[in-house]
Amino acid sequence: MAEIAVMGLGTVGTGVVKVISENAGVITRKLGEPLRVKAILVRRFRDGPYRHLCTDHFEEIQNDPAIRVVIETIGGVDAAYDYTKRCLEAGKHVVTANKQLIAERGFELLELAREKNVKYLFEASVGGGIPILHPLRECLSANRIDEIYGILNGTTNYILTRMVRTGAFFSDALREAQRRGYAEADPTADVEGIDAGRKICVLGDLAFGHQIDPEAVPMEGISKLSLRDVKIANRAGYRIKLLGRTLRLGPENGFEAGSRTAYVAPHLIPETMPIANVEDVFNAIVIRGNAVGDVMFYGRGAGEMPTASACVADAMECLSTRESVLSWSPDTSGFENPLKLRCRHYFRIEGSLTDAAMAFGQVEVLSEDGETAFLTEPVTGLDARKRSANLNILSCLRVLS
Ligand code: HSE
Repeated sequence: MAEIAVMGLGTVGTGVVKVISENAGVITRKLGEPLRVKAILVRRFRDGPYRHLCTDHFEEIQNDPAIRVVIETIGGVDAAYDYTKRCLEAGKHVVTANKQLIAERGFELLELAREKNVKYLFEASVGGGIPILHPLRECLSANRIDEIYGILNGTTNYILTRMVRTGAFFSDALREAQRRGYAEADPTADVEGIDAGRKICVLGDLAFGHQIDPEAVPMEGISKLSLRDVKIANRAGYRIKLLGRTLRLGPENGFEAGSRTAYVAPHLIPETMPIANVEDVFNAIVIRGNAVGDVMFYGRGAGEMPTASACVADAMECLSTRESVLSWSPDTSGFENPLKLRCRHYFRIEGSLTDAAMAFGQVEVLSEDGETAFLTEPVTGLDARKRSANLNILSCLRVLS
C-alpha cells in the first residue's frame, strides 16, 4: 500500500481524491500496489465524503513517515511554498499543479528535491490534463527546441468561444467558467494573461534550460479585446486566440547566441492552422523542434478531473524507481524584449486608409467601415509602435504566421 497526502481540497484536490478512488483498479495494476489518500490538509473543515481524512495540522503530514508523496493543490506561493519546502526537507516526493510556484520558485525547489533525493513533479501545471512537460523533456529530448506557442488558458478560451459562438456577455461567460471549475480563485490571473504567462515561463525554462523571470514577460489578456475585432478577423479568415509564446533567439534572427524571449498576447491566427480552431476549455500547445518540426498537443487545459489525471500520474511516477531529469539554470540573462520580434500586425484605427498607408506603406485592408482595419507587412513590435504613434488606434494585435 502506497500512502499519500493531498494539501488543499479545492477543485484540483477534490479531483485527485476522486481519480484515486474511481480508478483504484487500474492504478493498483500499474503501480503494483494500491494507492491510498491518508490525509488531506484543509484550512476549514466542511462536511462531505472526505471529512474523515481531513486535518488542519500540516505537521501530521510532515511527520508521518508512511506518507511518501504529497500532492500540493493549495495554489499561490506563500503557504504552498512553505509546505512544499518542508515536505521535500522531510524526504517526501511532492507533486503540484501550481504554475505560479513553479514559475517563481521552481528552480530552488527542484534543487532542494535533488539534494534530498526525492522528486518534485508538476506535469499538471501546464495544459491541465495534456501531457506536455514529459514529452518536452523526454520524447523530444533529441531536438533543439526553437519555439513553443499555445493556447494555455482554458478559462479565456472558454470565454472567447462562448462570446463568439453564442454572443454571451464577457461577465456571464466568466461566471460559467468559474462554475465549471476552470478559473483561478482570482480570475484576474486568467483574464489578464498572467496564468498563461506563468505557464509559458515553465515551458521556456524547460525548453531552453534557463530561468525565465515572470516579471520580465509582457502579459496581455483578453479584457481589452473587442468583439468588433473578432468579427473583422473572422471575415478575413483569421481567428483571435490568446497565445503564450516563447522562442529561442540567435544570430540567424539578429540576436546574441543563446538568448530567448517570451510573452502572452491575443493573436490573429489564419483559420487554416489547426490551433485556430481549438475551442472551449481545450488548450493546444505547439512545440517546434529542429528535427521533428511542429508537434501539437491538444486536450482539456483546466477542470477537476483532467488536472487531477496529471497529478495522480505524477504521484505514481514518484513511487516508481524511474529517474526524472528535470531542472534548469537560475541564470536569467539573455532574455530579450519580445517587441524586437518581427511579425505582421493587425490595426483598427479611427482614420482612413491613407492614414494607414502613410504610417506603414503597403497594407492589406480588412475593413473600411467608418474606421479602418488593416494588416501590416512584418515589422518588429518596436517599429509598429513608432510608426503608429500618430494614428488613432482602437486595437493592435499580432498575427501568427
Ligand atoms: N485557470 C486555469 C485555466 C486552470 O483556466 O487554464 C488550469 O491551469
